[in-house]
Amino acid sequence: MLTFLRKTCNLSVLQNIRNLQISAILSSDTLFTHRDTEYNNPSTPFEFNEANKKRIEAILKIYPEGHKRGAMIPLLDLAQRQYGWLPISAMHKVAEILNVSNMRVYEVATFYTMFNRKPMGKYHVQICTCTPCWLRDSDSILKVVREETNCEIGGNSADNMFSVSEVECLGACANAPMLQVNDDYYEDLTPETTKAIIDALKNGERPPPGPQCCNRYAAEPASGLTSLTSPPPDPTFGVRSDL
Ligand code: FES
Repeated sequence: MLTFLRKTCNLSVLQNIRNLQISAILSSDTLFTHRDTEYNNPSTPFEFNEANKKRIEAILKIYPEGHKRGAMIPLLDLAQRQYGWLPISAMHKVAEILNVSNMRVYEVATFYTMFNRKPMGKYHVQICTCTPCWLRDSDSILKVVREETNCEIGGNSADNMFSVSEVECLGACANAPMLQVNDDYYEDLTPETTKAIIDALKNGERPPPGPQCCNRYAAEPASGLTSLTSPPPDPTFGVRSDL
């Protein structure tokens, strides 16, 4: 069939046909398909605890009747925080609460890489390797994390202490290179500060999040202020004198 098309079609048509034949590009470390396993199948026990049931009630009140499905991401996030990761039975529970088909929940849970559909280690270390971080040598950060956690990208360490993921931009490019550990951002990293962070986590400590060098508090210029260096002009500045 392809030989026939090659002979009869021009190049652009053929390219379109070839595009139809390639597999989807995988943009994360995780397969977006689900395979039932012993620990993750529709019978895996999952129920929201009492505290989260109250939170769900409050969240659902934000959304008007007919638009409750807008609460899907907050509910999935609650389920993941409660269980540690997101089994398929938790997705079914969310679908039941929102009165939507299971497929609607699968679509969301498989699209966003923030949802972990397999058991995770105590610390989920996500290293950004997108362009600005990569230009600031995120490769060396990734190398240190892999060596220090003894964990491959997309996997868990043998002691279940760490999970390591390579991720796209986490929105802290001004402080590249950076990584995220659970909910904390660690920025302006060097291989040395990265190793110190992993060592602290191994010792059960929570290293202070934020920039790790240059005395930066946030994303201000590392070399000191470059604007807003003098007191602002008074409110009449630039206003016509006859007004
Ligand atoms: S590129 Fe790494 S945070 Fe944006």
